[in-house]
This record gives sequence, C-alpha cells and structure tokens, in this order.
Amino acid sequence: MSQWSPESWRNFPILQQPTYPDAQQVAEVEAQLAKYPPLVFAEEIRDLRRSLADVANGKAFLLQGGDCAESFSEFNAPKIRDTFKTILQMAVVMTFSGECPIVKVARMAGQYAKPRSADMEKRGEVELPSYRGDIINGFDFTPEARIPDPHRMVTAYNQSAATLNLLRAFAQGGLADLHQVNRWNMSFVESNPRKEQYQDMAQRIQQTLTFMETCGISADNTAAIRETQLFTSHEALLLNYEQALTRRDTLTDLWYDCSAHMVWIGERTRQLDHAHIEYFRGINNPIGVKVGPGMDPDDLIRLIDALNPENDAGRLTLITRMGAETLPEKLPALVRKVQQEGRKVVWSSDPMHGNTVSSSTGYKTRNFDAILSEIRHFFAVHKAEGSYAGGIHLEMTGQHVTECTGGAYQISDADLSTAYQTQCDPRLNADQVLELAFLVSESLKGR
Ligand code: PEP
Ligand code: CO
Repeated sequence: MSQWSPESWRNFPILQQPTYPDAQQVAEVEAQLAKYPPLVFAEEIRDLRRSLADVANGKAFLLQGGDCAESFSEFNAPKIRDTFKTILQMAVVMTFSGECPIVKVARMAGQYAKPRSADMEKRGEVELPSYRGDIINGFDFTPEARIPDPHRMVTAYNQSAATLNLLRAFAQGGLADLHQVNRWNMSFVESNPRKEQYQDMAQRIQQTLTFMETCGISADNTAAIRETQLFTSHEALLLNYEQALTRRDTLTDLWYDCSAHMVWIGERTRQLDHAHIEYFRGINNPIGVKVGPGMDPDDLIRLIDALNPENDAGRLTLITRMGAETLPEKLPALVRKVQQEGRKVVWSSDPMHGNTVSSSTGYKTRNFDAILSEIRHFFAVHKAEGSYAGGIHLEMTGQHVTECTGGAYQISDADLSTAYQTQCDPRLNADQVLELAFLVSESLKGR
C-alpha cells in the first residue's frame, strides 16, 4: 500500500465534490484553515474510541443523532440547546432500561456537507446545480447561491467552533443535571397522548433519583449526576476541509481529523479504490461507514479490512441503512459473515435513509412506524445471529418541526407544511424522537 499523508486522497478518484470556479481561492482557504486551532483534542477522540470499544464488546450503547444538514441561517443557541436537551433525555431513558452507559454522539458542530443523488435540481423549466450543504453552496434556488464558494469552509469552521463551545458549556455547566433531564421527561410524558405507555418508566427513574439523593448522592457532590459528555460527528465528505483540520498529535505522533471526534463515510462515497477510503485509513479517529442494502458480505469484509486492518474494537462503526422491509432480508448474511470472520465492529442502525418516501403533498418524508420497524428488525437480526446491536443513528431535532409523519401526535401528510424546516432530509421532532427512545428501550431491556 502506498504511503499515506493527509493529502494522499488527492491521487484517487472522488465523487460528490464541488467544482469550485477558482482553484487559487480554494488553496488560500485551505492554507488559512490549516493554521486555525483544532476543534477537538486528540485525547477526547481517543476517549470516544475507548467508549466505542465498550460498545463493540457489548458493554455500552451508541446514541448518535442530529440534523441531516446543519445550516448557516438556522444557527442559534435555542436550536443547539434543544437538540442537546433531547439527546440527553433520550439517553437517560435508554441508560435506565439498557442498564449500560449510553455513548452520546451528536450530528452537530460540523454536519454541513451533503451527498446528493442528482448533480442538478430542476424546478419547472429552471435547472440549477444541486444544493450540497452550507459548507459548499447556498440553499436558495438561484444561480448565484448554487455556485460553490470555498469561503463557506471558514464559516462552517467558525460555526462549528461556536456550537462546540456551547455544547461543552451545557455538558459541564449544569444543563445536564439528571434531575432536570428527568423533569423534562416527566413533562414530555404528562402531555403525551400515549402517556400510559411511558409514565411508568419516567416515574421509576424519578424514584431512583430521589432514592439516590436520600442516600446522599446528589448533583452537589457527584459529577456524574451533574455533568455529561457529548461527542461530535459529521460525514467527512468535503475532504479539502477535513484535510485542513488533520493534525498530528504531539503525544502519540498519530494523525487525527480534528474537525470532530467521530467522522463517517456516506453510502455514496465508500468505493474501496476511491479518495474517502484513502483519507480515512490514515486518521486515527473512530470512524463510521454507511452500509446500504446493496452490500455484499465479501465486499463488506474488504471494506472493514481497508479501514480497520488491526481489527481494533472501537475503531469502526458499521451504520446500516437498508429500509424496514429490506433489512430482514439483507442484514443477516452481513452479520453472519462478520461473526464468522471474527471482525470487531460496532453495529449501528440508521433507520432514516432507507425509509425516505415522497409524500402526496410533495414533501420528502419518513414514517415513524417504518423507522421504529427498521430498528426492531435490526435488534431481532442481531439477536438471532448472536451478535450485539450496538447503536442507533438518527436524523432528529429538539424543535417541534413537522417533517416525519406519525408518532403519538399522528402527524399526517397534510400537516407536513406546518413546520417543514429541514434543508435536506426529514428529521424526527422532539416528541417523536423521545417516544422512539422509550420504545427502543423495550429492545434494550435485559440484554
Ligand atoms: C446522511 O447520513 O445524511 C446520509 C446522506 O446518509 P447516507 O450516506 O447513508 O445516504
Ligand atoms: Co440525511
């Protein structure tokens, strides 16, 4: 294998990249970013890798979630806070039922680049280059907005830094207090139409916290009650940006992509002989790779070996996204093969990307029951194969959007227009995703 360097990916074919009009400008921005401080610290990255090794070994569970695409215009504190709160609320429920640590990884602070199924977007008679995420071009359907602009990489860096700063403050500064998080859960349950189904667990968590407090274990004297750790992640699609943030750790001499703790490769850019695999093989972050229904078991082993040749638990997370109906047919052979070959991976379920449909009202949507069904099948397959279902990967928000149908509030096709705010794929809203956490809890119990 040829020598790896942060720029060696440039010698390989690459898909889903912008064509910038001015190469000189791109080079200037890259040089500028390369001088900026890293967004995360290598020791934190190693910390996540250790936690994911626990997941691979069946001792913890991964909860990964956030926007499909973060945006420059919808960048504000309430939005960051609400997603943070929602992830924590879900994690409390899942920790309680799963009786294991929940490794929390946000799709935040860098989730700005999007692969697209078509290069061009047509509306009526007008055809323009597709929107590729705010780090690349603009969402507005105008010729100017759709021109890729490298300066957007600097804006993405700055917004990621500000987002991370707030997340760190929330995690350490009191917003993560377990008592408070469960109070939010109690009020979620109180107003939920399916209250009967969820209130028992919320109350039991409440009783446990009260019991602990009575015994003298409180937020005042116990950091674990008061604080949490939330890692960041995104699809490392735009390699110009990722390369600029790739740094050699002075303690270990190893290379890390310091734009996030965890990065993943999308379903459309994981070709073995292409640039993304080349880039990812050299960084020491925990990494993910999306696995769609077309994956062949032997190809999966080749992919695993390209990305994790040392078979290190915690290095590689396989994020399956097959669709609720296709998963029971396609996943068993993959799981069996990985078991037979003794490869150590984290298996996570993305129940979103295989269940996208076009609503009669023209919106791209996903149905709550299909999402839940893919997750349940995912757990069932792993159970049947004697493998460990290690995590879920969701497109979600803490806001009250109407992008996915179903859930206790029975969002219908006709409701989608009320608050359809995503710049890309439809997300579960705060109520839907918490309900999902309560329902997934049943699969986590007694494992
Ligand atoms: C995504 O996670 O937003 C995404 C584009 O997924 P996939 O690569 O699985 O289609
Ligand atoms: Co998406």
